[in-house]
Amino acid sequence: MNSSDWEKELEKVAREISAENFSAILSAEDLERLRIRFLGRKGSLTELLRSIKDLSIEERKLLAPKAQKIKSQLESQIAARIEEIEKLRFEKDINSQSLDLTLPPLSPLRGRFHPLTQMQNQMAHILGLMGFSWAEGPLIEDDEHNFTALNIPEHHSARDMLDTFYVEGSKVMRTHTSPVQIRAMRQKKPPFRIISPGRVFRHEAIDATHSAVFHQVEGLYVDKNVSFADLKGTLEEFLKALFGPEIKVRFRPSYFPFTEPSAEVDLSCLFCSGTGVGKDRHPCGICKKTGFIEILGAGMVHPNVFKAVGYDPEIWSGFAFGIGVERIAMLKWQIKDIRDFYQNDVRFLSQFKDAELPLFA
Ligand code: PHE
Repeated sequence: MNSSDWEKELEKVAREISAENFSAILSAEDLERLRIRFLGRKGSLTELLRSIKDLSIEERKLLAPKAQKIKSQLESQIAARIEEIEKLRFEKDINSQSLDLTLPPLSPLRGRFHPLTQMQNQMAHILGLMGFSWAEGPLIEDDEHNFTALNIPEHHSARDMLDTFYVEGSKVMRTHTSPVQIRAMRQKKPPFRIISPGRVFRHEAIDATHSAVFHQVEGLYVDKNVSFADLKGTLEEFLKALFGPEIKVRFRPSYFPFTEPSAEVDLSCLFCSGTGVGKDRHPCGICKKTGFIEILGAGMVHPNVFKAVGYDPEIWSGFAFGIGVERIAMLKWQIKDIRDFYQNDVRFLSQFKDAELPLFA
């Protein structure tokens, strides 16, 4: 094709395009058919543009911009028509449906933190004000961190206290947050205070007060001359900040391999105000008439634990504690079944309106 034939051909295509009545095209399919006719791989304009390579450079310089202009005009006509077709279709849809504009809208659900997260944050907040900083460790632990370094050697009967999920080899799902003590001590130089909130796992039968997955907040303070009085004072202050000054705290001698001496700490039962008798005048089933509920384990860091992390127990001393988050939350909000926390029933969860952080002036 010589250049004048080519130009004639272009004018012919342009005439064909202007002969099209775009506003008469009512469907996206028809519009697409038109596009393919001119701009498809074998479309007339496409083929013409392809054959421009047979012309000389000068002829191309002259004709190519003309052809490009026709092409881009067509493209924008098509795009504009697509929009109009969409709009027409939408209007048609709207008009064919009857809308009840009097129907009240669904109010959007507001997200909030899970009650256990709220409780954990509240605990961390109080302990943070007391100088404890946040530390974390893995959920899948090795035997060494979960047991051995915590003075629980292999074949020691203390391992039976903790119903362990074994993963593979020497890996376990951590049975408590205490392994984070080991990690923190190996990472840091004393003195320091850390808490480690997180999930723990025990192979347990599930009932109203037991879950195979639950949460603890571990605390550890290492310094010179730390005494049991420091431990008592810290925990009492913490519990009063959390539950109010009227609660009673009770320390009972206990045993943990990684602390000596060890204690279990009880809180006066908030269901019966420590009386052992419920509001219905029946014996309180929550504290089993004792007026107290066990909420945490604690003690002075055992010298063997210090040795396992390379601290000299003649120089360093410390206390540690492990608090059950569910226990605390159940007491605080008078929840009778631990399973409520995990069923994710919005009727339950939505009652916990992002807990106010305790005032601590
Ligand atoms: N790790 C213990 C448990 O899970 C709790 C604890 C922590 C006790 C720290 C003493 C010191 O039962």
